[in-house]
Amino acid sequence: MPSLTLTEFKITSTGGPLGAVVTGLDASQPVAPEVILQLKQALRDRHILIFKEQKLTDEQLLNFAFYFGDLYVPPDDVPVLASQPGVTPVVIPISNLDGGYTGTGELAFHSDHHWTPKPSSGSLLYALEVPSQGGDTYWLNLNLAYETLDEATKQRIADLQLITYNPFLRDKNAPRSKYRLDRNIPLTSPVFPHPLVRTHPESGKKILYLDYATEVEVVGLEPQEGAELIEQLREHLNQPRFYYQHKWSVGDIVYWDNQATLHYRQAFDPNERRVMRRVSLAGSRPF
Ligand code: OGA
Ligand code: MN
Repeated sequence: MPSLTLTEFKITSTGGPLGAVVTGLDASQPVAPEVILQLKQALRDRHILIFKEQKLTDEQLLNFAFYFGDLYVPPDDVPVLASQPGVTPVVIPISNLDGGYTGTGELAFHSDHHWTPKPSSGSLLYALEVPSQGGDTYWLNLNLAYETLDEATKQRIADLQLITYNPFLRDKNAPRSKYRLDRNIPLTSPVFPHPLVRTHPESGKKILYLDYATEVEVVGLEPQEGAELIEQLREHLNQPRFYYQHKWSVGDIVYWDNQATLHYRQAFDPNERRVMRRVSLAGSRPF
């Protein structure tokens, strides 16, 4: 007989520009087909799903993630977060403790693996320990950012291709640049242009496929013109009306669509502990 204390499965919109909260689901256990389909539909509509009160092992987290796709594996010559020569861990420790990644600093709005030939479709981040303050993550709706552009800008950018340079290949001593202005500096990395306006592979929605701070270059535009355009677009997309701010609780899993959103993390006190596990899912070539 089912226990009366079991809460009912429910998907509730955050009410904001993106995001839905999922309760009454145990991600450590096999999930019913109709529930998986509802989750996929909700992800298409709301771009991020926030699962509450989860408790799972790495293996269970992976098994849950695989309902939505295959593991993201970078090409051998394209390093990404946590890459070791030849291998990238399957479940990545996002943590400020020894052996973890991303430290305690602010992370600018980005999409995971944007600079690779087939960027990740989505990532899942599972919170094991959270700081008492700071370390919130924000997700930003890039379909809304696109839709709210003026018509002239939409037309201007419709067929442009953008190169996003791999931050894991850049010279750590070089000054930070948000646009590649100096074409005399030799390229250190293989580059993969993607449409600046991409079409979401499931929903068909138009996405402004640009992050906030990684070095980029618009193919075919003079450096100054490209830099000004990108600055204007970045100013536009970085608006609170496009984002949802998540304050983490232990046991949260957030599953986000890297094809439709950016994410940002607040800095937090290095004396506190923030321990999370991340799984990224494979994606397809942007179109
Ligand atoms: C990531 C990431 C944000 C955070 O794991 O890809 O950007 O809040 N993390 O830790
Ligand atoms: Mn990230």
